[in-house]
Amino acid sequence: MKSIKVCIGSACHIKGSYEVIEIFKELIKYHNLENDIELLGSFCLGECRQSVSVMRWDNKILSVSKDTAKYLFEKEFIPYI
Ligand code: FES
Repeated sequence: MKSIKVCIGSACHIKGSYEVIEIFKELIKYHNLENDIELLGSFCLGECRQSVSVMRWDNKILSVSKDTAKYLFEKEFIPYI
């Protein structure tokens, strides 16, 4: 099981953590990855100036918005599972 941590710190919350989480949840379901990926909330990841910060299982931090969430999920997560 690989973890994706979505920052729910105050800066990221304002920029749309909740929407990003909902999009990721739908994509996990759509791609049948419920047994491969777990979605977690995280406190501040130290990248507050970007969009919503997301940490991949190998500690790579990505900056994600609701508009880029699907693209990044398919480009940065799926190929590395
Ligand atoms: S609040 Fe999300 S990186 Fe700081």
